[in-house]
Amino acid sequence: MPTMEKLTKRRGDNLYPVAMNVTFGDNELHLDVPAGVWNPTPHGVHLGNVLAELDLDGETVLELGTGCGLHAIAIARSGAESMVLTEIDDATLDNARHNLAKHDIDIPVEYLVANWTSVETDELFDVVVTNPPFAKSGKRYRRYFIDTLIRDAHRLLKPGGKLVFVQSSMADLPRTLGMLDEEGATTEILGQVDGPFRDYYFEDAAFMREVASVPNGYHVRDGVYYETLTVLRATFPDAQPG
Ligand SMILES: C[S@@+](CC[C@H](N)C(=O)[O-])C[C@H]1O[C@@H](n2cnc3c(N)ncnc32)[C@H](O)[C@@H]1O
Repeated sequence: MPTMEKLTKRRGDNLYPVAMNVTFGDNELHLDVPAGVWNPTPHGVHLGNVLAELDLDGETVLELGTGCGLHAIAIARSGAESMVLTEIDDATLDNARHNLAKHDIDIPVEYLVANWTSVETDELFDVVVTNPPFAKSGKRYRRYFIDTLIRDAHRLLKPGGKLVFVQSSMADLPRTLGMLDEEGATTEILGQVDGPFRDYYFEDAAFMREVASVPNGYHVRDGVYYETLTVLRATFPDAQPG
């Protein structure tokens, strides 16, 4: 039986402290996540599993919204040459720095406070990775971070660079595929899994109403609600027109 304190922490914002063991392929991670840093969910775990299978040998990688750094560890172990990791504040970046050091990541890493795709760097990247905010995006238009990611990816990627990200079926996968197509990207699905709803979905009546109107946004099996989590890799064209 969970204690009242645990229930209180688990309700709402998904920013409660936790020590978490996660396995990506052969990599066992022991993550420390303090209060205020996003507690990894099945979305992030699915993305990490896919990243662990990729060959990122010699690639330069930007991760937007690194949180506790779980993907950055997987990216480094998949051979990346260097990484830039962004977050909304220094405290979260400090937590990522702590988890990377704990896992002996020794490739060059730059930690930057940045507002989503507004990353102040002259560098263009081979790969941009992210688990974008959606259910808890804090925006009236919940897809804000997904849409801006797709529209701005060309400003962050080298010509022919790749955007790798995870999204829920509740965020309207066909809409995402259509937008990537509009940007001239070639998109592959790298992995798809079903995951049961997080408790905080049910606590947000507006969210439940919104996702009910997304075609194939979720399904119910034996009374349990499931979303489908998809990792996409979109290869952007060599140049923007004009
Ligand atoms: C869904 S969480 C993913 C965190 C981590 N990558 C994971 O999978 O556990 C989204 C992350 O984006 C960060 N974030 C939110 N708004 C942001 C913004 N405007 N710019 C950069 N990061 C932002 C949040 O702090 C959060 O850590």
